[in-house]
Amino acid sequence: METEADAFYRELPKVELHAHLNGSISFATIEKLIARKPHLNIGHSMTAIQSGQRRTLEECFQVFKVIHQLVDSEEDILMVAKDVIKEFADDGVKYLELRSTPREEKNTGLTKKNYVETIIEAIHQCKKEGVDTEVRFLVAVDRRNGTEVAMETVKLAEEFMLSTSGLVVGLDLSGDPTVGHGKDLLPALEKAKHSGLKLALHMSEVPSQMEESDLLLNIPPHRIGHGTFLHPEMGGSQSLVDKVQKNNIPLELCLTSNVKGQTVPSYSQHHFPYWYQSGHPCVICTDDKGVFCTNLSLEYQRAASTFGLSHEAMWKLSQQAIDCSFAPDALKDQLKQRWTKLRPAVLR
Ligand code: IMP
Ligand code: ZN
Repeated sequence: METEADAFYRELPKVELHAHLNGSISFATIEKLIARKPHLNIGHSMTAIQSGQRRTLEECFQVFKVIHQLVDSEEDILMVAKDVIKEFADDGVKYLELRSTPREEKNTGLTKKNYVETIIEAIHQCKKEGVDTEVRFLVAVDRRNGTEVAMETVKLAEEFMLSTSGLVVGLDLSGDPTVGHGKDLLPALEKAKHSGLKLALHMSEVPSQMEESDLLLNIPPHRIGHGTFLHPEMGGSQSLVDKVQKNNIPLELCLTSNVKGQTVPSYSQHHFPYWYQSGHPCVICTDDKGVFCTNLSLEYQRAASTFGLSHEAMWKLSQQAIDCSFAPDALKDQLKQRWTKLRPAVLR
């Protein structure tokens, strides 16, 4: 990350709902990983997209492959998850939903179950160490891996939802949007929803996903990631927009990720105002703060400066994100009380 956000955006209490663990690793943590595995010959330019740089979506997915080589053991995952949680906390995030795709690694003996257990352990350790952020976890399904793996992942998520007293709250659908089709994953997603997992689905991240988005919106999910090409001006359709609005499904919007990943040509052409101006619930998120060299304060500041929004409007946006979270009602109430308490000091 090259710049720091203004004090207001750093002090603003924030909610992060769309953060992929391995995309969120900071420069400092990547350094530690590289030191652990010098034989891989991985440099920073292979794990992050600096300011002014852009990559095709395909190149972005290559970056994740490199990072996965660096993070392949329980020890790595514990360090990465703790560092990421602490960095969000330092950036003023009071409630964080992290998501990650369980992976097995033959070399290190890592299993998908250990993978999730280690992230849960990281959440517990951060709490014990006094990190002042409530963290919940979404188990991610990589769309590339098809029906069977999706179903296994849902079963794993269900087990953890029951065994972690509410730390695992939902299921994410992500991965390269140009690979695979949502229709193959519908039974797994419906099963997950039926068992009580909340669904946060990447949707219409690239053009030509209209049919898939229509199928996914019929579930319907609890939140949408990106939704860049849902509306008619972007080649989507009014009927997709109607479904999103009728069900009041919040959108997780990640400006820098979309610009650097080139699914949106520039900040000013981002779809944020299309939804925001109609009063639809929008949540500003980072997606992959490490890969895209950003943080949540910078994303709020960027949205405000691009679309001319006041501090008061940004405060409202961060407060409204509480209701879009998968936190239980009691925690939402606690968070709202925190916002009320902090307001006079932040909105001076
Ligand atoms: P992980 O799940 O913690 O390993 O985080 C990296 C993974 O998140 C990638 O391999 C993708 O599956 C997913 N991911 C990260 N960013 C995006 C995105 O912008 N679109 C779709 N999937 C993404
Ligand atoms: Zn994402």
